[in-house]
Formats: sequence, structure tokens, C-alpha cells
Amino acid sequence: PSVGIIVVAAGSGTRLGRNVPKAFVEVGGRSILSRSIDSIRRISEPVELVVVVPADLVGATSTHLSDTPHVVVAGGATRQQSVAAGLEVLSDAVDLVLVHDAARAFTPVDVFERVIAAVRSGAGAIGVIPGLPVTDTIKGRDADGVVQQTIDRSRLTAVQTPQGFPRALLAEAYARAGEDVTDDAELVQQLGHPVHVVPGDERSFKITNPHDLERAEELAAPGAR
Ligand code: C5P
Repeated sequence: PSVGIIVVAAGSGTRLGRNVPKAFVEVGGRSILSRSIDSIRRISEPVELVVVVPADLVGATSTHLSDTPHVVVAGGATRQQSVAAGLEVLSDAVDLVLVHDAARAFTPVDVFERVIAAVRSGAGAIGVIPGLPVTDTIKGRDADGVVQQTIDRSRLTAVQTPQGFPRALLAEAYARAGEDVTDDAELVQQLGHPVHVVPGDERSFKITNPHDLERAEELAAPGAR
């Protein structure tokens, strides 16, 4: 089966406190978007790459992707709309889709390969997400800040990307999608399909706030990886 990867990079990233969209912020002299495809380039089989960016940056995007073949498309107001825009331009040859946040720029290549392998082992019927154990104690609280309960963290997983799906399953999920959700697996779950967790990686953290940018600078430093 042929793999397509949709990298969503159309967010504004206001929490970073910069005045360019997050994926275009530079870390160690290269944009987050450019870094996010380093691992994708190293996947051991050919993949079709679709990059979703803010509409006004469609023309400028290719300079961030050097010689990697790709299709660029304008994103939407929400992440879900951006993924939908990416899905529309995948070629007919693709039957396994990975959706990845550009903001998780340091995701190692083995996470991509693990997700692809797990989707294949599910024979077209499962979604796959990378996740990590939750290390903090998690409590539920009410609107006044009063703790309601402690949640058993052994049953929790902190979810990352790339999330992988048989194309038909993801396309069906998006065709029937309602409210905006924060991850693609939620839409697939809503259809009643199983979603499996495979091990994620600490380096797949999502660059979100200024502290994350400092951590990213450290990882981007020569010799850090
Ligand atoms: O905002 P957040 O960091 O959760 O976004 C996760 C990913 O989704 C980022 O890579 C961001 O660029 C992308 N995104 C998008 N279109 C949006 C919002 C977010 O492509 N409208």
C-alpha cells in the first residue's frame, strides 16, 4: 500500500509570541516546517507528502522543503479544516494516510515507521496513534477549581502525532465529521472503529509556548541528536 503524509502547518501559533505563523518560526536557523520533514525524508519507503500552510504562505513554502517532492495547499480556520484540505489533494494511489503536526518538528523517523507498520497490521480496520504514559497525577475539577476526583493515570496516554489510518477510514470520518475535535483519531472513534496506541517519543513534543522553543533550540544545536 502506498503512504501519504499530511503535515499540517497552517496554525497561527499565537502562544509562541512571534509574529509569523508557528511553522515558519526558525529554530537554529531553519524553520519548524523545514525541520518537521527531516524524519519524513528518511522513511524507508516512498511517501507522498502534502503540506498544509496559511493561504498567504502557499507560494513561499517550497523554499522550506528544498528538494523534497510535495504538494502545498492552503489550510483552514481550524486544524480539522486544514487536515480536510490536505485529504482532498492526495493522489488516488494513496491508501494509508498519516497526519502529522509540523509543530512536532523533532519526531524521530522510527515513530513514523512504527505507526505505518501498525496500521498495516490492522488490515484496513484500525487507526493508530503514538502515545506516552502520563507522568503527572491528573485530577478532575469543577469550574470553581474544586477537585472532583483523581483519575487513574495507568489508564491514560498522552497523544502525539503522526496518527495513521487506512485512507478509506479517515475519509469516511472526515465526510461525517461534526464539531471541531483536536485529533483525527477522535473522528475515527466516533464512527466506532478501534484506535490502537503505539509508543510515542519524548522528542515528539508539540512546540507550543516559548519554553518549548528553548527546548527545540537545544535539540537543533549541532551534535544534539
Ligand atoms: O495549535 P496547535 O499547536 O494545537 O496545532 C497543531 C498543528 O495543527 C500545528 O502544526 C498547526 O500548524 C496545525 N494547524 C493547522 N491549521 C489550523 C490550526 C492548526 O494546520 N487552523
